[in-house]
Amino acid sequence: MDLNDIRKRAENELRSVQNQQDLRIILQKYLGKNGEITKILHSLKDLKGEEKKQMGQTANDLKNDLMKLFYQQEHKLADKELEEIENKTDIDITIPAKQAKLGHLHPITQIRSKVIEIFANLGFEIAEGPEAENEWYNFDALHIPKDHPARDMWDTFWIKDLKDSKGRLLLRTHTSPVQARFMEKNLPPIKIIAPGRIFRYEATDPSHEINFYQLEGLMIDENITLADLKGVIEKFFQALLGGDTEIRLRPSFFPFTEPSVEIDIKCAICKGKGCSVCSQRGWIEMGGAGMVHPEVLKAVKLNPKQWQGFAFGMGLDRLTMMKYKINDIRLLYQGDIRFLEQF
Ligand code: FA5
Repeated sequence: MDLNDIRKRAENELRSVQNQQDLRIILQKYLGKNGEITKILHSLKDLKGEEKKQMGQTANDLKNDLMKLFYQQEHKLADKELEEIENKTDIDITIPAKQAKLGHLHPITQIRSKVIEIFANLGFEIAEGPEAENEWYNFDALHIPKDHPARDMWDTFWIKDLKDSKGRLLLRTHTSPVQARFMEKNLPPIKIIAPGRIFRYEATDPSHEINFYQLEGLMIDENITLADLKGVIEKFFQALLGGDTEIRLRPSFFPFTEPSVEIDIKCAICKGKGCSVCSQRGWIEMGGAGMVHPEVLKAVKLNPKQWQGFAFGMGLDRLTMMKYKINDIRLLYQGDIRFLEQF
């Protein structure tokens, strides 16, 4: 066996190899278990003396040289394959990085802050109540006894099988229970607003949602009249929607106010011509209001002969719709970034 011949062939093959798989096949061919050089190394035991020594030396040198070449080629091929992978991908490192998008407050939250600011300037403080309310504060304390048909005005989500010391639990259908909660704990004079989330089990349409926000207002003192209510409401709408905003008070009924009124403003979407938001009326109902009923004052242990006042409850969603000219309340709850980015 001519070791020079093997060296030539093996070196040629190793130098011209194109991929790692072929490289390993060549290694097996010469230095694997049954490789040509391995066989020679095994056969050395049959030789003797000087011949054995020389042959052994040459074969070992050849083995070492080929292993060196093998590792060199292995590195080269690995680099080449990496380069090919990099060239194949579509990554363009020169494209500028994407800007992280910054969020902002939801339009209802923006209006809530504005409304709080306006009423703070008029001397009102903020009060709060629970969203899971009991039927005493949501209905009874507001002069809406059990089985009274007036309860049907508020389509209620009841919380199954849960009650506290003041009755069954429900998702509050209005922010008016905050009136009773506040008057129980605070003596007049009282000037509060209570913005908050409320729930009603009813069909949705462009101006009705099942989950929405109200703004309750309550002012109790001596000698308060409906004229004070009108003055405060007018000032509020003009500050929020502009000095030329028209409002009107329409006689209405609420069990917890007497007399009661409905607060309408001229529809800002259609400028009074009539559209789907105002049900073609040109005016849109923003809230209910009235003089606090003497029975409500008695329920919280205030003497109606000494104290009177007004209360109102307005839809914060409707205020947001009027301010930003949004024609469907449902858009406010869809979380669609294309809509929200406009405010
Ligand atoms: C009430 O909830 C009374 N608590 C308001 C009140 C308070 C009267 C204090 C007197 C004294 P009403 O059900 O009309 O009333 O609702 C008040 C306002 O909430 C409506 O005028 C409207 O602006 C808004 N609103 C009512 N239902 C919905 C609804 N489904 N989706 C969006 N807004 C609504």
